Amino acid sequence: MKSVKPTIYVTRRIPQAGLDLLATAFEIEVNPHDRVATREELIAGVKGKDALLCLLTDKVDAAVMDAAGPRLKVIANYAVGFDNVDVGAATVRGISVTNTPGVLTDTTADLAFALLMATARRVVEADRFMRAGEYKGWGPMLFLGQDIHHKTLGIVGLGRIGQAVAERAAGFHMRILYTSSGRARAPKEVERRCNAEHRELADLLRESDFISLHVPLTESTYHLISDEEFDLMKRTAILVNTSRGPVVDEKALVRALKAGKIAGAGLDVYEREPECEPELRELDNVVMVPHIASASVETRTKMATMAAQNAVAVIRGEIPPNLVNPEVWKKRAR
Ligand code: DGY
Repeated sequence: MKSVKPTIYVTRRIPQAGLDLLATAFEIEVNPHDRVATREELIAGVKGKDALLCLLTDKVDAAVMDAAGPRLKVIANYAVGFDNVDVGAATVRGISVTNTPGVLTDTTADLAFALLMATARRVVEADRFMRAGEYKGWGPMLFLGQDIHHKTLGIVGLGRIGQAVAERAAGFHMRILYTSSGRARAPKEVERRCNAEHRELADLLRESDFISLHVPLTESTYHLISDEEFDLMKRTAILVNTSRGPVVDEKALVRALKAGKIAGAGLDVYEREPECEPELRELDNVVMVPHIASASVETRTKMATMAAQNAVAVIRGEIPPNLVNPEVWKKRAR
């Protein structure tokens, strides 16, 4: 007998809690391969479905929405960032787009701080040295890194994650500067709580020992950090990126690192994932991880539940808790 339940395509296996929740409202089809769905698989999978649960690695544009057809009501993105979804195209088609904000704030801030510490204190380089059996005894000049405590941290984007990074930095008695994309200043209460002073980007880059990026990827943040910005940084500066790869001009980053314009970089994200500039792999002063900022069991489980709740809400005719394009519902209310 033909299913009467609405249908959803899930582009990659997510934690079971999310699938269990989806099963209460949907007939589920999950991409059977443990890899990113190809464009063809995405289009075939979403065809005729009522809902799509996708990842930041899926490019969901107008063509995908049209391939899905008129039943598609919700695109539940399994990420806080939603630059992979053409929200304008979804809005025009009356499709709700949702994300997973909040639940990954602390986990992402933890990783930003881990990258900052690992790069400053050369943890990965030292680990490789130990494993290679090269440790011959304590040395006064062995793996000298940089202090973190009492240094200046420049936070680019004092949103939820930026603020959580500032809270961690307080424990290290760091001086905190921030700049915001799009908005001139954070509310006074946020500045006070984070003990953060506002700076224009150029001043923040000049004054900071560590620079941590926490802006969404938009037209105005694309290559926000490029040659000109590296020229402003201290030669001892360390750049940390857990936001989106294209916020940094990766070729310019390689140039800056090789020329000694900055001291190092801690990277979770890359301009053309899963690729990265090959020279980055050869630089000892770079700590690289594969886009794992939200990758804890607890957080990924919460993200799965949240994405599922969003999809279920829409299919039940309710405004989803994490709606990115409220215009869709305003139109319906008219
Ligand atoms: C997000 O949710 O945008 C993160 O990049 C996932 O790790």
